[in-house]
This record gives sequence, C-alpha cells and structure tokens, in this order.
Amino acid sequence: MSDFTSSFWSLYVAGITLVGVLACVALLWWTLRMNAEVDPDASTGHVWDGDLAEKNNPLPRWWVMMFAISCVFALLYLALYPGLGTYDGTLGWTQEGQHAKELRDYEARIAPIYAAFADRSVEQLAKDANARAIGDRLFMNNCAQCHGSDARGSKGFPNLMDAHWNWGGTPDAVLETITDGRVGMMPPMAAAVGSADDVRAVANYVMSLSGGKHDAALATAGRGKFGEVCAACHGPDGKGTPALGAPNLTDGVFTHGPDNEAHVIDMINNGKTAQMPAWKEKFSPEQLRVLAAYVWGLGGGQPAGAQ
Ligand code: HEC
Ligand code: HEC
Repeated sequence: MSDFTSSFWSLYVAGITLVGVLACVALLWWTLRMNAEVDPDASTGHVWDGDLAEKNNPLPRWWVMMFAISCVFALLYLALYPGLGTYDGTLGWTQEGQHAKELRDYEARIAPIYAAFADRSVEQLAKDANARAIGDRLFMNNCAQCHGSDARGSKGFPNLMDAHWNWGGTPDAVLETITDGRVGMMPPMAAAVGSADDVRAVANYVMSLSGGKHDAALATAGRGKFGEVCAACHGPDGKGTPALGAPNLTDGVFTHGPDNEAHVIDMINNGKTAQMPAWKEKFSPEQLRVLAAYVWGLGGGQPAGAQ
C-alpha cells in the first residue's frame, strides 16, 4: 500500500472492508427482526413431493451468536492489526517485526551452542562430533547443490573429499576459501602458445605430467612452450599455485573436464572462469569455522603449515 502516493486507494479499500463487515451486522439484525408469515405449525405453506413441507424455524441461537462473534472479531482484529488500507493497527505489529523477533529468538537459542566452539581451532572442531554434525547440516543446506551431497563435486565443481586442493588444503586456506570466496580464472592462452600444432604439443606435455595418455614426441616438443606460457601460473613443474587457484596438473585430477588431450586443448583455447561464492555475509565466524572444519575433515585436509 505504501507504493501509492495518494490516500485514495487506502481509503477505498478500508471503506469496502468496513462496509462489508457492517453489512453482515445489518443483515443479521434485519433477519432477526423479520416476521415471515407462517402457519401455526411454523409451516410456510409450501409443500413438495406430496409431503415435504417447508418450515420457517428461527435460526438456532448458537448460529446467531457465532455470526455476531465473527463480526465483533473482525472489527477488533482490524483495530489491532494492519488490515484497513494503510492503517497500522494499535498493536504496531508488522511482518518485518515478527520476522526480526523470530530471528532474534533463533539466534539466542543457537548462541550457546556456537559459544562452545568460539575459541577452538578448525582442526579441533574437525574432531568434535557435535561440530561435525552441525557442519554436515550447514553443508547439505548451502553447499551440496554445487559440490554434491556426498561432497564429491561434479564437472566444474571441485571434489572436496580428496587431497587435491586448487586453493590450498590447510585449515586456514579452507576457511579463507569459504569466508571470502574464490574466483579461479584462466584466460584463453592459444594466442600466446602459437599454432594449433603448438597447442597440441603443450597439451600432450600436460598429459604426460600425470602419466595420462599422450604422444611422447609431441610432449617433448611442448615442454618449452609450457615453461614459457603456462608455468607462470601452474608452476615450472606443473604442480600448481594455490594463491592463484591454478590447479596441480601432475596428479591426474581434472575438475573442468575428462583427463584427456581434448580437454587440455579446450582449456588452452578457451580458458575458464569459475567462482566459489563468499559466505561471510551469511554465516557468523563460528559457523564459518564449523563449515571449514567439516570440509577439512572430510578426508583431504592438510595439516596447518603444509604447502
Ligand atoms: C554456486 C555454487 C557453489 C556453492 C553454493 C558452493 N561452492 Fe564451493 N566452489 C564452487 C566452485 C565453482 C569452486 C571452484 C572455484 C575454482 O574453480 O577455483 C568451489 C571451490 C570450493 C573450495 C575450494 C576447493 C579447492 O580445490 O581448493 C572449497 C573448500 C569449497 N568450494 C567449499 C564450499 C563450501 C563449504 C560451501 C558451502 C558453504 C560451498 N563451497 C558452496 C562453487 C560453489
Ligand atoms: C593466468 C594464469 C594461468 C595461465 C597462464 C594458465 N593457466 Fe591453466 N588454469 C589457471 C587457473 C586459475 C585454472 C583454474 C580455473 C578455474 O578453476 O576456473 C586453470 C585450469 C587449467 C586446466 C584445467 C584443470 C582442470 O581441473 O580441469 C588446465 C588443463 C590448464 N589450466 C592448463 C593450462 C595450460 C596448458 C596452460 C598454458 C598454455 C595454462 N593452463 C596457462 C590459470 C592459468
């Protein structure tokens, strides 16, 4: 209603509502007063099917009371709560207020649970069955749609169960990934590599890094270009750079496609950008640590300080 600049529609709606309730009261009053002409046996004189006589008995008292009570209830309700145009009601109740109160109540209820986690590290929380159970539920509700309910990921969404991390697998790195999000960006590199044959050669070299199917001669030919173009991000030995989210190309784990030459060629030609959303707006610091502990403890977590 607040979208209207004039009060006309507010008054219009309020008017129709009040007229409706008052009309019900008037109808009741009028029918109670009305004296229909009836025979002494309360019959109206209408008879169907030989012996089906229409009678005119007064309305049962309970029915009249119910009707009157609903009219009174309607008027009281409209006085107390918002319902008449833009009138706010005397209780000052609002949907936003109700929502905020429920949120406050909820936060007050969960605060003691998370307070117990406040001064514990991600590694400690990963060993706490209670924290892990909460982390599991947070994961199912917020992360599973991308990483899968078994956390094994799918094409484009990394598997969080294995020890392969693009952004680092230490407790701090996982916590940072979840808190601030990550954008993995590989630009199209074909122009920097050279001809289509050069691209194929580099791709074969990449496949050789993990012992995948490759042509040994082509791989040797592509080695130099890899060092010139790809090493800047993936490292001279192809083991990746967590600070850039550039994956390790030597372990045979590919997130963005199958582990074959065609996928690597596709990556070189087209590049890829993938984003992990940030969660610090949605979760408290304790919730973020519980989530990090859950993910870190799934099996692939690396000890603090590991490279
Ligand atoms: C909208 C989809 C989406 C949702 C929801 C999502 N993620 Fe991600 N996540 C991604 C993508 C995409 C990446 C990979 C980014 C890249 O390619 O660098 C990623 C990467 C990660 C990584 C880094 C993995 C590595 O190899 O270093 C972690 C850890 C992670 N997500 C945890 C979570 C957690 C915990 C949640 C829930 C709070 C979550 N994600 C929710 C899409 C999502
Ligand atoms: C500017 C940094 C940068 C350069 C240069 C670069 N890459 Fe990448 N590369 C990345 C990043 C970051 C990703 C991850 C992209 C994502 O997750 O969205 C990636 C992903 C890949 C993947 C996909 C791995 C998977 O999990 O599916 C392959 C293959 C790859 N790069 C090969 C190469 C090759 C070959 C070159 C050289 C021609 C190269 N990259 C040059 C940053 C780079």
